[in-house]
Amino acid sequence: QPVVVAIDGPSGSGKSSVSREVARRLGLAYLDTGAMYRAATWWCLRSEIDLADTAAVAAAVRAMPLDQGVDPSVEKLEVDGADVRADIRETWISEKVSAVATNLDVRAELRRLQREAIAGQTVPDSFSEGRGIVAEGRDITTVVAPDADVRVLLTASEEARLARRARELHGAADAAAVDATRDQVLRRDRDDSTVVEFQVAADGVVTVDSSDLDLEQTVDAVLDVVAR
Ligand code: CDP
Repeated sequence: QPVVVAIDGPSGSGKSSVSREVARRLGLAYLDTGAMYRAATWWCLRSEIDLADTAAVAAAVRAMPLDQGVDPSVEKLEVDGADVRADIRETWISEKVSAVATNLDVRAELRRLQREAIAGQTVPDSFSEGRGIVAEGRDITTVVAPDADVRVLLTASEEARLARRARELHGAADAAAVDATRDQVLRRDRDDSTVVEFQVAADGVVTVDSSDLDLEQTVDAVLDVVAR
């Protein structure tokens, strides 16, 4: 029986690294939906589309030639043949991604692709031979895959989330690095919250708080939920 694991969480909760590792351990496919919104933002900016022009943004995203891999051990993300894995983590994308992600036509299109990717992993012949998928983002447990077998909200204190993001972006979590990260992370969470609820667990969603856990311990905590 194929397994669908849905994991949501705010920025810096560690959901990408945790979800990827959980997929690897379980031999499942892995879908990073945040990478899709980031790739869509990259594509719109590269095409010089005004992000305030919601109709133009939606049309561009519908036409986006996206090629995303679902193997948790081989990250693949191409737009129109360009490898965008590094670009999409940069500040110029992080600063604009909420503008694209709060466009409801964009959400409808990317949710459609996400449901298709999830459905594709629950039939034989796919990467994991139909064994299932771990899908991760902001609205997977609530909107994209509300009937997933396992649904987890990965949370962490603001302090822990800022320290993690500061380490990722600046290589340190000293006061200056945390300050440089604060605006970006908190503003993005606030903007995203206007269209998706990811701060409070929906009915039936299990909360895992990773504030005091390292990656390994968080992966184990999620695997415990899966084994329940
Ligand atoms: O890793 P981090 O939490 O910073 O962000 P991400 O997962 O890469 O997602 C980047 C952005 O994509 C978020 O800030 C949201 O604007 C958007 N997103 C979304 O709206 N819905 C999702 N399911 C996933 C991401």
